[in-house]
Amino acid sequence: MKILGIETSCDETAAAVVEDGVKILSNQIASQVEIHARYGGIVPEVASRQHILAIIPILKQAMAEAKATWRDLAGIAVTVGPGLAGSLLVGVNVAKAIALAHGLPITGVNHLEGHIYAGWLVDRSIDFPSLCLIVSGGHSDLVLMRGHGDYVVLGRTRDDASGEAFDKAARILGLGYPGGPAVEQAAKHGIASLKLPRAWLRGTNDFSFSGVKTALLRLVEAGKVASKADAAASFQAAVVDVLVIKAVAVAKEYRAKQILLVGGVASNMLLRQRLAESSPIPVLVPEPVLCTDNAAMIAACGYYRFQTGRADSLDFDVVPGLKLG
Ligand code: KG4
Ligand code: ZN
Repeated sequence: MKILGIETSCDETAAAVVEDGVKILSNQIASQVEIHARYGGIVPEVASRQHILAIIPILKQAMAEAKATWRDLAGIAVTVGPGLAGSLLVGVNVAKAIALAHGLPITGVNHLEGHIYAGWLVDRSIDFPSLCLIVSGGHSDLVLMRGHGDYVVLGRTRDDASGEAFDKAARILGLGYPGGPAVEQAAKHGIASLKLPRAWLRGTNDFSFSGVKTALLRLVEAGKVASKADAAASFQAAVVDVLVIKAVAVAKEYRAKQILLVGGVASNMLLRQRLAESSPIPVLVPEPVLCTDNAAMIAACGYYRFQTGRADSLDFDVVPGLKLG
């Protein structure tokens, strides 16, 4: 069963063909990073125009790489939200056009659920309940997955998401865009010597990362940051500490059988290592290219949606503020 996945929720135009929810036949991504880097962040209007330019070539490449024809497909899965409205619209409209032209079933996928299903591209034998730590540019969520499509959100960020915090820290330190990889790279040459706060928010499963970012800004403004590398290492350590310690505690409390670490920030090596070392239960982390935005994860999620009969009629719309669960 081959599913075409389409992802355009933010600044990557992506298309992929995945067989039976696990086998990646193609995974094409056109990144807009260089274009947005000029502005130091994503410009939504620019993003949607770029998606329009990139979507057809990317689709053709994904179909060619998979050696698939439209007739080989069993269905189309496309991200409906959360994300930028104009960007989402490009993917959804192209997906609907293909579905209509070729009589294919279509399903609208929640982008966060897509990130979770990147885990199934790694290991199909995931046990429930699983604790998902979804860390991306817009989210830092702790989600208990009790079965396919069955989610309970246990905690979320109260202000900045972890990826957003990395992006802001990089801007404060003048490390460039996108911030996560830039901070990680700079941190390799530094030691975590700066004292930065950790917001534990005891008694809750929520996160807060705006305090650590502001503390870093104050130190820079006061001229107390002699080494950008040390500052990057200190910031990374502070964010990773909170994510790891809270995720392990919540997994224990809810007797999770496994932790799934997903989303763009999950490509951070320190986070991957620290969580693997600290967790008494298995930790599953997709390879970095499946952590950041891609369409293979959307196709994988689509496969399980079709399996449980959750196809959509063609009149569904994008939902920029879509929630999980
Ligand atoms: O999941 P994703 O590709 O897009 C969203 O759904 O938001 O996540 C993007 C976020 C950005 O904030 C980026 O800075 C962060 O993930 N990120 C990282 C790393 N790679 C990407 N953060 C920390 N370390 C990394 N290596
Ligand atoms: Zn994402």
